[in-house]
Amino acid sequence: MRPRTIECYGIDVTINVLAEEYGLTFPAIENDPDPKYCSNLIDKNYSLYMPIDGCGWQVRKVLIEHISTWYPGKQFNECFEWCGGPATLAFSVLGANLTKKIFVGDIFQPSLNAVNETARNNSVVDRVETCLSDNFTNIPSDKKFDLIIGAPPHFNNATFSQNFVDDRFYIDPGWTLHRDFFNNVTNYMTDDCKIILYEASWGSAIETFQDMISDNGLVINRYGIINDGVEWEPILNYWWYMEIIKK
Ligand SMILES: C[S@@+](CC[C@H](N)C(=O)[O-])C[C@H]1O[C@@H](n2cnc3c(N)ncnc32)[C@H](O)[C@@H]1O
Repeated sequence: MRPRTIECYGIDVTINVLAEEYGLTFPAIENDPDPKYCSNLIDKNYSLYMPIDGCGWQVRKVLIEHISTWYPGKQFNECFEWCGGPATLAFSVLGANLTKKIFVGDIFQPSLNAVNETARNNSVVDRVETCLSDNFTNIPSDKKFDLIIGAPPHFNNATFSQNFVDDRFYIDPGWTLHRDFFNNVTNYMTDDCKIILYEASWGSAIETFQDMISDNGLVINRYGIINDGVEWEPILNYWWYMEIIKK
């Protein structure tokens, strides 16, 4: 593996492998350039997108189905994407007109630059806000969201080794990021706020987060497995979801 530096949305980042060296094609994306569902950045240049790819695009359609089915006819006021990266999930919600505004938090500036570029390319700058933040640290304390979504880092140690991204993308050591999220999130929720999170079956189960959720006055209202497995040798990984609300 030869680390090299590339410019990624205005900032130099070091990566190990380029997308084409991995033979990655992502047919699901290539066959689905519907701007309603995904950030237009993915389709343009995957090598450029790769350093910021958190794979949330894999569940963007499921998220739209969930929101449309669970809250029929509802348009949210402001949707926060936690650990949003390039915000494929939030842009899908915005594209489907299920929220008036989106607010994207992440600790990695190139991802937020990509979010702003997507907003400019789609003429929705006035409906998109970004915040460089270590979890909630820099999120304005007066913010109240009625929808919070996320596909955060899914593993609590380095069992899953991807060579082309930083650990930050997939490892939450000891679940500290999740615990800090649940300890603080109620300060940013309207009373009727819904939280919808997508996790990986190889990394966690509902029991992993149950106590963190109930200790903070929250309840799991719905959860389940998403039956589209994603093949990562040598296992078949499933996404699972949970919808969390105030008690
Ligand atoms: C699995 S990726 C998901 C990104 C995006 N949701 C997607 O689906 O493409 C996890 C994201 O969490 C971000 N992240 C990791 N640690 C963080 C922290 N302490 N505060 C905010 N974001 C963090 C990473 O930069 C990365 O963008």
